[in-house]
Amino acid sequence: LPSHYQLPSGHQIPSVALGVWKATPGEVGPAVTAALKAGYRHIDDAWAYRNEEEVGKAIKDSGIPRDELWLTSKLWNTFHAPEDVEEALDDSLSKLGTEYLDLYLIHWPIAFKKGSNNELDVALTADPYPTWQKLEEMVDKGKVRNIGISNFNIARVKNLTANPLKYQPAVNQVELNFWNPQPELLAWARENGLLLEAYSPLGSNNQVKETLSVPEVKEIAGELGITPAQVIISWHVQRGTVVLPKSVTPSRVQENLQITALPEDLFDKLEAAAAAHPPKRVVNPSQSWGLGFDLFEDEW
Ligand code: A2P
Repeated sequence: LPSHYQLPSGHQIPSVALGVWKATPGEVGPAVTAALKAGYRHIDDAWAYRNEEEVGKAIKDSGIPRDELWLTSKLWNTFHAPEDVEEALDDSLSKLGTEYLDLYLIHWPIAFKKGSNNELDVALTADPYPTWQKLEEMVDKGKVRNIGISNFNIARVKNLTANPLKYQPAVNQVELNFWNPQPELLAWARENGLLLEAYSPLGSNNQVKETLSVPEVKEIAGELGITPAQVIISWHVQRGTVVLPKSVTPSRVQENLQITALPEDLFDKLEAAAAAHPPKRVVNPSQSWGLGFDLFEDEW
């Protein structure tokens, strides 16, 4: 299985990252330390996770040269206005203690007015191009090496890329797991040369138990002599996506980096099992944000 993927910029992104969403204060630093020790060179963070400072400190303490690491962060919904982008980015850079990010994503295709409590900015939600142009400027300024999107459905990707972009989105980070395998999005992304990154790859905190006890997953694990989590993480990379498993448990952090190609028949079996039930999204904030529409279903 690939240890890296090549992006349109020519940069190589490591295929497995440590995910730190829901890693709480006091546990996220040691998790990053354990990950770097285990050989991870890719950390997937976001301004909204409120842990960039602790992550940054663990990275600094590791002594690993900056250019050997891949750091991703994300622009929060309240900073989509072009005049707010650079300040938000600078805040992430300073918290992470770095001069540049390897990848900076628009966290959600939903813009809220600055300082508001989820008050939709209709114009910037309908048309993210002004936000994107500012991100392109950040590339030219050397503050980020690659820019991408997250949680964009196909219609939203098309809506953005219909503009004369200077830089195409390097990735689209989306929920992908056994319960929500999104084969159509995956096929479309592949056809269009857009790399996907799988968040909540194990089903996130509340579904991981169910994922790891799926009969096919257990069976394949037994057959190959690997753990159920390794089956799932390997499956993601074999599907051609970056995978971002989150763990704050050092032994699991280590376990999750050991991926191995599944024999074709077992891969197909797992793919079929994932497609055999109606898809169920683990993460969807549409309701809690009071959007009045499903951000994954509707265009706006
Ligand atoms: P913990 O962080 O307590 O170790 P996802 O990556 O889909 O967001 O899933 C994260 C959840 O999966 C967390 O609850 C995490 O627990 C758990 N988890 C991560 N890796 C493993 C593993 N190898 N075995 C069992 N559970 C795991």
